[in-house]
Amino acid sequence: MNTILTDTFNRMHDYLRISLTDNCNLRCFYCMPEESYTFTPASRLMQAAEIFTIAEQFVQLGVKKIRLTGGEPLVRKDAAIIIQQLATLPVELTITTNGTRIQSFIPTLKKNGIKSINVSLDTLNRERFLVMTRRDQFPQVYDSISQLIAEGFHVKVNVVVMKGLNEEELPAFLNWTKNTPVHVRFIEFMPFSGNRWSSNQVLTWQEILEIAARQYEFTPLESAAQDTAKKYQIPGHAGSFAVISTMSNNFCSTCNRLRLTADGKLKNCLFSSSETDLLTPLRNGQQLLPLIQQTIAHKKKELGGQFTQDFEKIETAALQNRTMITIGG
Ligand code: 5AD
Ligand code: SF4
Repeated sequence: MNTILTDTFNRMHDYLRISLTDNCNLRCFYCMPEESYTFTPASRLMQAAEIFTIAEQFVQLGVKKIRLTGGEPLVRKDAAIIIQQLATLPVELTITTNGTRIQSFIPTLKKNGIKSINVSLDTLNRERFLVMTRRDQFPQVYDSISQLIAEGFHVKVNVVVMKGLNEEELPAFLNWTKNTPVHVRFIEFMPFSGNRWSSNQVLTWQEILEIAARQYEFTPLESAAQDTAKKYQIPGHAGSFAVISTMSNNFCSTCNRLRLTADGKLKNCLFSSSETDLLTPLRNGQQLLPLIQQTIAHKKKELGGQFTQDFEKIETAALQNRTMITIGG
């Protein structure tokens, strides 16, 4: 297949992740940089109409799925309007949220055909939630997840696993899948600017499976070609679990993802060192197509060309990237 969204490794990019804001009402240390952080002022963010215009172009080029991310997408005042507008495009629309504000959005999500929601939750322990996010909002998030499931949404819970921090909670997360149709996804801890990553905090896919195997028997589930998650089923459980092994076993060879930051920069990879401004050219009435084309053409084979599976060797200071809160995952 040879389209504008196909890169030099023959990967077709039909999945666009749009960050609505770099603002968030939680303060997860692995996502926000340590130094005091100033959120991007509204004038430099894409406005709702600009988001729609850019998204529409990508859909015309072949994008089939759009995910809204942040920061926390639902802290944006016009989040509901953006959702309504994007829902008019012929795409699967989804969202990744921290779950703190989602309850009031349930009618909007339903009305606009959103069926699957990813909620980030790294611990089932209220005190640890406070330590990790610096906000005492565990009950809200947990209750939101229960309500979303009760309302019939497909809910995936993203758990960033860090050695010595929340690894001991794997059994509790697996137990949760027993009677609840929740899909828990353990994510290997990844390095971003200012997130105090170190290789010895990465609990790998293999290590996660070893821990799970001490508790339960499980079988692999079929994955779609472009799934980032390796999925498993514990027989008899209502939910399932999965591992996103970006660090120890990446899935770059089938990558179909593009990212648009809240300030309108296109990133061809989560770890790309460069980005292409689409917002300024849009505001100047310039064509976006050649810019999109160039950005795709320059996509590196794996991990933004910045490191390899040998993650012990990563020099965090040498990585050129944004902070996670400004990428949106
Ligand atoms: N490593 C792994 N996952 C991360 N996320 C945020 N920062 C990191 C990191 N350093 C997760 C969020 C969210 C998803 C989009 O990415 O918790 O669930
Ligand atoms: Fe795609 Fe980059 Fe993630 Fe690899 S690291 S899967 S190329 S976004």
